[in-house]
Formats: sequence, C-alpha cells, structure tokens
Amino acid sequence: MSGKPVIFIIGGPGSGKGTQCALMIEKYGFCHLSTGDLLREEVNSGSERGQKLNAIMQSGQLVALADVLAMLKDAIDKNTEAKGFLIDGYPRELEQALEFEKTVTKCQGILYFDCSDETMVKRLVSRGLTSGRVDDNEETIKKRLATFHTYTQPILDHYGDLCKKIPAERETAAIFADVVTHVDAICAAK
Ligand code: AP5
Repeated sequence: MSGKPVIFIIGGPGSGKGTQCALMIEKYGFCHLSTGDLLREEVNSGSERGQKLNAIMQSGQLVALADVLAMLKDAIDKNTEAKGFLIDGYPRELEQALEFEKTVTKCQGILYFDCSDETMVKRLVSRGLTSGRVDDNEETIKKRLATFHTYTQPILDHYGDLCKKIPAERETAAIFADVVTHVDAICAAK
C-alpha cells in the first residue's frame, strides 16, 4: 500500500463519480473500487445479507460503516498489484473517512464533484429508464439527496484543502481536464 496514491471520490448521487472514475482508470491505471458497485455485487449474489443491503439502498440510507469498510478492505487486499486506488462513493460520512485512515491507510486527496440537485435528479431519472437500479426512481433519489446533504459537509470541513471541489455540470471532457490537474498534483506530491 505504501507509495500508492489513495484518492477518495465523493459527490451527490448522479454527480458523475463513476463516469470520471472510468476515465481515470484508463489514464492512470488505478484500481477503481466503487462501494455502490461492491454492495450491488453482494445483493446480486442473492445472499441473505444482500437482501438486507438491498432494502437499505432502496431506502436511500447509508449501509453500516463496519459492513462497507470490511468490504473495501477485502477488495483492496485482492488488488495488491494496483498502481493506486480510487475509492468511489466513500466516505459518505466523516466517521467512514476517519476509520479508513486509522485502519487501512491515509488518503492523499479527495475529489468532490459538485452538482446541483436539479441536475442530479434529471440525470438519475433519465438513467433510471434503463439502469434497472432499485434506487433510480424519484422517491429514492430524493432520499439519497437528503442523505448526501446531511452527511457531506463535515467531510469537507475536516479535509479542507485536501478536498478538491470540481464543478460537475459541464461536458464530461471539461470536468476530466480538472480531474487530471488534481490527480497529477496528488501523484507528484506522493
Ligand atoms: P452508489 O452506487 O455509490 O450511488 P450514488 O453515490 O448515488 O451515485 P451514482 O452511482 O448513482 O452516480 P455517480 O455519481 O457515480 O454518477 P454517474 O457517473 O453514474 O451508492 C448507492 C447506494 O449504496 C447508496 O445510496 C447507499 O445506500 C449505498 N452506499 C454506497 N456507498 C456507501 C458507503 N460508502 N457507505 C454507506 N452506504 C453506501 O452518472 C450518473 C448519470 O449521469 C449517468 O447516466 C451518466 O451517464 C450521466 N453523466 C455523468 N456525467 C455527466 C455529465 N458531465 N454530463 C451529463 N451527464 C452526465
């Protein structure tokens, strides 16, 4: 783990975290760990635990910290060859960040995709037409937004300058140009 950049990727539902991570993987060869994707894998396994997780995700609330962190640690351990890690959708609350840094490793930077609720709702409703995700419906989207607004500010306050706020209501390529500037700086400082 030492010497490898670890970057937290945060932002509201539909702010474009996954889209930008896909571009970063291509450019930097990092390992992309999306907590949402890892949780959906568990749900799709059909396990009893998965059914409980599905209900939480459908309600737009946060899955318990211990469950998410254990899942992330497991995924990191399975990717020892990675050049670095993008931890996408994590932390969702300050406690998640503190526990991660205490028990896994320090993060070197945070990218925060800043987007209005209106745009996020539009994107997710549109994605919901084909995504099949249990949480891409208007009712759950509202709850996901409320959860996001409740828990995010303490993360931004705690990390200050380490957190790079990127306006995320532009063309994907323009957003990515800012991403590259920040990731290059994070890698150079490592
Ligand atoms: P998760 O799967 O992480 O969902 P989310 O954070 O709500 O974000 P999304 O994946 O829906 O959106 P995104 O920001 O990645 O945007 P995307 O690039 O896909 O989490 C789901 C649930 O799991 C949570 O609600 C919670 O219950 C649980 N969970 C997850 N992590 C957890 C954690 N750490 N702790 C506890 N619980 C956790 O883009 C969205 C759409 O917009 C796409 O259609 C895309 O094509 C489009 N788009 C993207 N960029 C642009 C652009 N620039 N212009 C126009 N359209 C764009």
